[in-house]
Amino acid sequence: MKVPFGNLKLHYQQYKSRIDEAVQRVLDSGYFILGPELEKFEKDFESYLGSGYVVGCASGTDAIYLALAACDVGPGDEVLVVAHTAVPTICAIRMTGATPVFVDISGSLYTMDPDDIEAKITSKTKAIMPVQLYGQTADMDAILAIARKHNLKVVEDCAQSSGATYKGRMSGTMADFGAFSFYPSKNIGAFGDGGAVSTNSRENYDRLVMLRNYGQSKRYYHDSEGVNSRLDEIQAAILSAQLPYLNEWNERRRQIAKRYSDGLKEVVVTPEEGKDNYHIYHLYVIQTSEREALMEFLLERSIQTLIHYPVPAHMQKAYQFLNYKTGSLPATEYVTKRIVSLPMFPQLTDDQVDFVVESIRDFHRGRSSERKVPGSETHVGQEFYGVAINTTSHK
Ligand SMILES: Cc1ncc(COP(=O)(O)O)c(C=O)c1O
Repeated sequence: MKVPFGNLKLHYQQYKSRIDEAVQRVLDSGYFILGPELEKFEKDFESYLGSGYVVGCASGTDAIYLALAACDVGPGDEVLVVAHTAVPTICAIRMTGATPVFVDISGSLYTMDPDDIEAKITSKTKAIMPVQLYGQTADMDAILAIARKHNLKVVEDCAQSSGATYKGRMSGTMADFGAFSFYPSKNIGAFGDGGAVSTNSRENYDRLVMLRNYGQSKRYYHDSEGVNSRLDEIQAAILSAQLPYLNEWNERRRQIAKRYSDGLKEVVVTPEEGKDNYHIYHLYVIQTSEREALMEFLLERSIQTLIHYPVPAHMQKAYQFLNYKTGSLPATEYVTKRIVSLPMFPQLTDDQVDFVVESIRDFHRGRSSERKVPGSETHVGQEFYGVAINTTSHK
């Protein structure tokens, strides 16, 4: 049995008639940019989120950039963010010219640790960006309270949390802005690049609409500087065609996660759901101290795994100029060496999930139990390493 990490081909085959119809409709219309399909998707996604406004844009990276630009974040400003994230989060901060300042994570939840925020605030801090990693949000009430106290903006990085909730509130509706990615392998994905920014404020909405379209208030009249970052009509139509299924897909991901956790909790550290969270398992991430050996063992059985992410942002070569030392983010650095993501997509069958579980149990037979309280130890001064695996279609 083969268990790929994801399967976008199968996904397309399953929804082919809806997708084909949506694409054909756009082709026949002769309308490709800023047309009725984008308007429809923005309305559809607003209804899905249940409040506020949505502005489509070209990618999740751009969504973060546009949200920060709408907060007037620029050179000389600092943005508090986690280093345990996809590097595009950091790319987007740098696109504004601002400096990322790294906050550690709550080890077992993998999201921003509210207790590490205030120590990192300076007179230059302008915004806090919790990354709702793997499919659950950070402790938003704690983060929003700190932001209010220090008069800071909050931008949620929702790239991995489409449909996740916190205390019943939708991810993307709790802060000043939510930034979504519709990269193809996300819980809802375009068939190409795509993203969106959500906001509860009409004023922010108007600003975003201008920013994404060269700063135009009306044709050829530019009230502010801007960029070209639009969600095209084909991608918008494809997203609208899929949105009615998002909740069903998220529920299936949760079933798969439960099946994994039931079978694995004795042998590895399984994911923890925050008590206030509805986790939508964009990724199912376990921890083990024998990660590389486990990944190799699974690959021999044709089970594909990945690491999200093998090198935290503050240890990446690109960001050495920020001058972070090994050991500066202990919880981040600890999990970085132990995490591994198992196959996770709605079309996975129970038999495939059981095969992965059995294989991991086989690997651990005869080895000591891996079950430890996550984050209870911190390791400082170790090197980071990753495993080369084809990542072309999955981030
Ligand atoms: C947490 C996070 N932030 C931002 C991004 C950037 O999104 P995109 O690839 O659509 O630019 C991604 C996806 O790659 C992500 O996972």
